[in-house]
Amino acid sequence: MTLAFGALGSAPFPPDIQEHLAGRDLPPPREDGIRDATNDAVLALVGVTLSFGGVVALQDIDLVARRGEILAIIGPNGAGKSSLINVISGVYRPDRGHVRLAGRAYAQVPTQKLARLGIARTFQNLALFKGLNVLDNVTAGLAHKTRSSFVEQIVGLGRSRTEEIEARNRAERVLDFLHLSHVGERLAGTLPYGLQKRVELARALVAEPDILLLDEPMAGMTATEKNEMAGFVRASRDEFGTTVVLIEHDIGVVMGLSDRVAVLDYGRKIADDTPDEIQRDQRVIDAYLGVTPENEDGEGI
Ligand SMILES: Nc1ncnc2c1ncn2[C@@H]1O[C@H](COP(=O)(O)OP(=O)(O)OP(=O)(O)O)[C@@H](O)[C@H]1O
Ligand SMILES: [Mg+2]
Repeated sequence: MTLAFGALGSAPFPPDIQEHLAGRDLPPPREDGIRDATNDAVLALVGVTLSFGGVVALQDIDLVARRGEILAIIGPNGAGKSSLINVISGVYRPDRGHVRLAGRAYAQVPTQKLARLGIARTFQNLALFKGLNVLDNVTAGLAHKTRSSFVEQIVGLGRSRTEEIEARNRAERVLDFLHLSHVGERLAGTLPYGLQKRVELARALVAEPDILLLDEPMAGMTATEKNEMAGFVRASRDEFGTTVVLIEHDIGVVMGLSDRVAVLDYGRKIADDTPDEIQRDQRVIDAYLGVTPENEDGEGI
């Protein structure tokens, strides 16, 4: 299995993002190391602006995620939600502004060190190794932790074998936690879509990240599957104390699951508040929700 880990190698980005990374003149990985002891937020975006040619995907975004909270990002298609997660995970370097993680500021978050920075993510489009079984897919979420040094392998310290066993044990525990043990040996590509999304969550969670970035984890699911997934996201936060940044279109799920909701519209953050306040915010209703909760109940305004 050591070989398999080696083959799995770095973080499993989907093809479009790999292409993007390959085609870019990326700056060398670095940690800017600007320490800011006053900032106790787990994650903050400060004045982040990102453009693609003439399209401004994110405009002067300030956003803070506090330890252990579930922060939902909502907004219409093209509002900049995925771009925001791609900035946090270092796929994009903002034109202006920076990302703060545990008090350090990054002009671009070093993608290669994402796991070591305590960040794990899922993707809007499924990014599983469809030809590998579920257990191997989840174990791949620990690839960064299971590579022994070359010297250790040569002198036969056997650490890789121990690491491998520990990695599989952890993967099995996460499968159990997310009620996936019964499909551990199945090829990921053969599972129903809803279960594949849950396997992606398992792969992200296995590293016990401080911050979990979930880009539409419930997209395309049935109502029952969405509720199950919401339950698993909440349980993940409760069990591991993970801060969750969640993009989701289903407003019912968002309101029931999140502690706080940030609303994007045309790359701008137009609101950032509790779910209750967000539902009553006229700008949010105009830009995204369309109807007030009172209207939905048929009582009108
Ligand atoms: N790699 C890219 N190249 C060019 N334009 C991009 C790129 N990524 C995003 N954009 C543009 O930036 C804007 C924001 O896109 P983004 O994918 O962040 O929106 P979103 O809120 O996630 O939308 P959706 O709900 O449809 O997933 C859109 O106008 C999009 O076309
Ligand atoms: Mg998106």
